[in-house]
Amino acid sequence: MAKTSANLDLQFYDYHPEQSDFYGEVVSGLQATPKVIPPKFFYDELGSNLFEQICQLPEYYPTRTEREILSSNAREIASIIGTHSYILEPGCGSCEKIKILLETLKPRAYVPMDISKDFLQKSAQAISDAYPWLDVHAACVDFTAPMQLPFCPDDEHKLAFFPGSSIGNFEPKYARQFLRQVANMVGAGGGLLIGVDLKKEEHLLRDAYNDNAGVTAEFNLNLLSRINDELDADFNLDHFNHHAFYNADVGRIEMHLISQKSQKIKVGDHIINFSKGESIHTENSYKYTVKEFQRLASEAGFVPVKVWTDEDDLFSVHYFENPEG
Ligand code: AVI
Repeated sequence: MAKTSANLDLQFYDYHPEQSDFYGEVVSGLQATPKVIPPKFFYDELGSNLFEQICQLPEYYPTRTEREILSSNAREIASIIGTHSYILEPGCGSCEKIKILLETLKPRAYVPMDISKDFLQKSAQAISDAYPWLDVHAACVDFTAPMQLPFCPDDEHKLAFFPGSSIGNFEPKYARQFLRQVANMVGAGGGLLIGVDLKKEEHLLRDAYNDNAGVTAEFNLNLLSRINDELDADFNLDHFNHHAFYNADVGRIEMHLISQKSQKIKVGDHIINFSKGESIHTENSYKYTVKEFQRLASEAGFVPVKVWTDEDDLFSVHYFENPEG
């Protein structure tokens, strides 16, 4: 782990996984049946920028709806959570949403964490510059792996902030495991403020992952460009199509890349065979009812305190506490 200090208020901790993890996970995923690549690999610098563009799309309601819920309830959120916490944000991306709450929550410190190092460095620097009173301790981590945060004093009240329904990208079993880890991270008396996308009419869900401008398709296909660039592979992006649909049986959007022909692809030292129509499953995005999510978080040791939704019941923001530690 490398620690660098950019300025007095911004510290950067690097736990970034080795490049070989990317190679190993991609090759074993492409050798599996069915083929799969974990969605965490979407987020190189271009992927992170494409995701920011997705968040602005008219079809992609989660971002604007969650922002609206946070801003219209900011005072009540602060009155329930209290001020002067250590706010930890796994998968912080551009750190945009926390800005809605910084002035009301007045945290003692903000700990943004992300796997995309360059993007994190820029976001953390920007927030440190915009809020000179705020201590920022950025940590480059794969937050799906166990998190060790040496700079978080035990006696401070900790709040984990996990907006954007990123929890939906975990299989429910791993979501529970991750929430347990978060409960340990915030300790006894700590809290979790989390955004969760709600189950709703299928066409709204389908459109959100099949935008007219084709940005979600580009985001999905960028995974193959990234593998070409970083792992010496020869995917031709014209020979794969983006495919996203709602699987109502399991309550999730599925994203796939579909091979348009029978083909052989080189990935480093390996050759991967594709038949025509074969898929690489790249992402699941689970949707929950309020009750379903409260049950999941309770199984991880959290107690539901409050939930806010928009008037169309598109999205939910939950606050939970960890009574145990
Ligand atoms: C980051 N995550 C919550 C997004 C989602 O909606 O599952 C990722 C995404 N994939 C396609 N569009 C957005």
